[in-house]
Amino acid sequence: MAANWTPESWRSHEGLQMPEYKDAAALAAAEAQLGTYPPLVFAGEARNLKADLGKVVRGEAFLLQGGDCAESFAEFHPNNIRDTFRVLLQMAVVLTFASKLPVVKVGRMAGQFAKPRSAGTETIDGVELPSYRGDNVNDIAFTAEGREPNPQRMVQAYNQSAATLNLLRAFSAGGYANLHQVHRWTLDFMGRSPWAAKFEVMADRIGEALDFMKACGIDADSVPQLQGTNFYTSHEALLLPYEQALTRRDSLTNDWYALSAHMLWIGDRTRFEGSAHVEYLRGVDNPIGMKCGPSLEPDALLRLLDVLNPRREEGRMTLITRYGYDKIEAGLPKLVRAVQREGHPVIWSCDPMHGNVVKAANGYKTRPFERILAEVRGFFAVHRAEGSFGGGIHAEMTGQDVTECTGGAIAITDEGLADRYHTHCDPRLNAGQSLELAFLLAEMLNEELKERRAAA
Ligand code: TRP
Ligand code: MN
Repeated sequence: MAANWTPESWRSHEGLQMPEYKDAAALAAAEAQLGTYPPLVFAGEARNLKADLGKVVRGEAFLLQGGDCAESFAEFHPNNIRDTFRVLLQMAVVLTFASKLPVVKVGRMAGQFAKPRSAGTETIDGVELPSYRGDNVNDIAFTAEGREPNPQRMVQAYNQSAATLNLLRAFSAGGYANLHQVHRWTLDFMGRSPWAAKFEVMADRIGEALDFMKACGIDADSVPQLQGTNFYTSHEALLLPYEQALTRRDSLTNDWYALSAHMLWIGDRTRFEGSAHVEYLRGVDNPIGMKCGPSLEPDALLRLLDVLNPRREEGRMTLITRYGYDKIEAGLPKLVRAVQREGHPVIWSCDPMHGNVVKAANGYKTRPFERILAEVRGFFAVHRAEGSFGGGIHAEMTGQDVTECTGGAIAITDEGLADRYHTHCDPRLNAGQSLELAFLLAEMLNEELKERRAAA
């Protein structure tokens, strides 16, 4: 167990990006309420994920992490959950089929509400109000009442997370994710994408493989590995009063776990040494992620790894790099070399979204698909050159047919952004773009694996 740590020891550290609640009694009441609620996940599941991620560290599996930039109360609907889940299944099956590696599936779902912002307030037409910080903090509506942080929103976020996770568990184990359903995961509106046709071809080949095995006497219908999948949840551990309320001691091992999700990560703005967020995460036994951007120096990274993973457990740490397509090849190698020199076991995962935001001429915040791909390409190029394993992808995506990122096979133009721009925060890949990314990623991953096998 971490020394001098309690679930609330973060409170004496510098905590950025958290709201100031005006009503201390209302905050305390919401925290107390959540503190008596059941945890959303079981500690044993977090341990299973850690073991799965250990395989990624060793180059024996690949990590797929994806979902909304920010979940919202307004878009809480079973179809949204199903559609994002099914695109993640499609991506996973593409990656598994192409690489022949198991894929560890982790959603940015069932708890991804809190958002860090570049400024504490926002001014429109001379009116200054607190920035929107995610639906578990305040309302996106630009009114004084809406923007006031309301602690009861944490309770609503908990309830939405519980219902979302319940549906995800049902889909994962109840038959929806059965490999025999692979043809049914295609979404109607994706019919226009050339990648949907490619997916159909692959689904046919999987179907043939299953039929072949059946003829050989392996009844695929009764093999549990084909009937479902393990799907894990994750979000940024930003709103620490919420996380603390759901921090529990595992009754089997007596260790502390954050039980709001299987995996939590620290953002690029809150991962500095001595921060409240680092303090909180060092004491929970979950697998954790850390966003690494251009401002992170190798020495600081090593000190953070010593604090966050002192026992050097495989699967504990995922480093999620987010440089920008034009910075990754210059910036990432020094981190990789430092980590390799010190022998820290980590997963290197690529977030090609957050370093590639641009403002379109008509004012929309967007991400050009070409730049997203260029960052992924740069990511694999660095890891191949350094002999490390590029083992994961972290994407902001949705199963909806939105128009938020430009480019892709069904090219979305700057003008087209206005059609279906629905995000509560950052622009997400739509279903077609996500599938396209998976196919291109699978190609790059295969090149990487070929080289690693040749070198071994
Ligand atoms: N259980 C295996 C896995 O999760 C195979 C599998 C079943 C699967 N359903 C899936 C793989 C859906 C990808 C997508 O890897
Ligand atoms: Mn985002």
